[in-house]
Amino acid sequence: MAPGFVVVLERMLGLIDNKALFAAVELGVPDLLAKGPRSAREIAAVLDADADALDRLLRYLVCRDVFTVSPDGRYANNGASEVLTLNAPIPWRDWVLFFGSDWNGRIFDRLPQRIAEGAAACEAAFGVGFFEYINQRNSDAGRAFNGAMAAGARLQSLLFAETMDLSRYVRLCDVGGGTGEALTHLLSANPQIHGTVFDLPALGSDAATVLTSAGLINRAQFLGGDFFDAVPTGYDLYTMFAVIHDWDDDCCVRLLENIRDAMDPDGRIMVIEKVVPSGRGYDFSKASDMLMLVLGDGGRERTESEYEALFARAGLHVCRRVVLPSLFDVFELRV
Ligand SMILES: C[S@@+](CC[C@H](N)C(=O)[O-])C[C@H]1O[C@@H](n2cnc3c(N)ncnc32)[C@H](O)[C@@H]1O
Repeated sequence: MAPGFVVVLERMLGLIDNKALFAAVELGVPDLLAKGPRSAREIAAVLDADADALDRLLRYLVCRDVFTVSPDGRYANNGASEVLTLNAPIPWRDWVLFFGSDWNGRIFDRLPQRIAEGAAACEAAFGVGFFEYINQRNSDAGRAFNGAMAAGARLQSLLFAETMDLSRYVRLCDVGGGTGEALTHLLSANPQIHGTVFDLPALGSDAATVLTSAGLINRAQFLGGDFFDAVPTGYDLYTMFAVIHDWDDDCCVRLLENIRDAMDPDGRIMVIEKVVPSGRGYDFSKASDMLMLVLGDGGRERTESEYEALFARAGLHVCRRVVLPSLFDVFELRV
């Protein structure tokens, strides 16, 4: 193991990666470099920025494997910075804008309070729950968060559609389906399916835009509501991509019971989540769990046995478990 102070320094300086990425995306550097390599002076001239500061920012990011630089000092995009452009097939820029934002920082500042007192961090920072904050109080936050979710959903649903055989299903409801990104991929890959995105009413107009521009308005619709009250009835497949992890056990059971009561008798629920593996090594699920600890009100990542206990409490059992190439799990559930 590296000396203790080196380990601590490295972990502590994670903030610099976060903020450097945020600055590059906020300034639009990846999109500018998509037009071709440029020196810091040339980029700064276009952005009306400080050339020396920009050069230092990009020198740092190059040493962190984001962007490249040629011997004559011209910066260019690489595989990492390309995914931060507006036109990337799966754009990760909203993740950077979400994660590096001041509002996310203010919620994370409440982590000690969350741990010491159990106070919900978003509530402590802004006086309201997370989804109310992003959808009703801060439109930039809503844009960044919902955009980040859409990018994740695009990736997961592409992998899901490639991996899972959905040929027996004809009506699909994507519960907590955000702006409909996942549904568009599932429907494009399965022409026999008609589908619904069910999410908070605030996401309705963005979802309508996504479904219309995918040319799916005749096979897809958005329904707004609160999934703790009820979910749309009569579907043979309900999917939930990264929804269960937002909530505590009692809320999850209520949500799963609502779906169980709404689905066709021989219907299925597919829950897509990153399971916390056994062992002490790093795993994305453990970082994501820190996110759940601060952003949600009771959200958490769970181990396999925790998921199984949750499903059993809702009167559901796992009839199949499939691991996607993203290493996220699909739990296929039935009554
Ligand atoms: C973590 S996001 C996942 C979004 C999407 N499934 C994905 O994979 O990107 C959770 C979703 O649940 C929705 N949501 C939160 N509370 C809800 C509620 N009470 N009823 C319906 N949807 C809700 C949010 O608006 C958000 O779109």
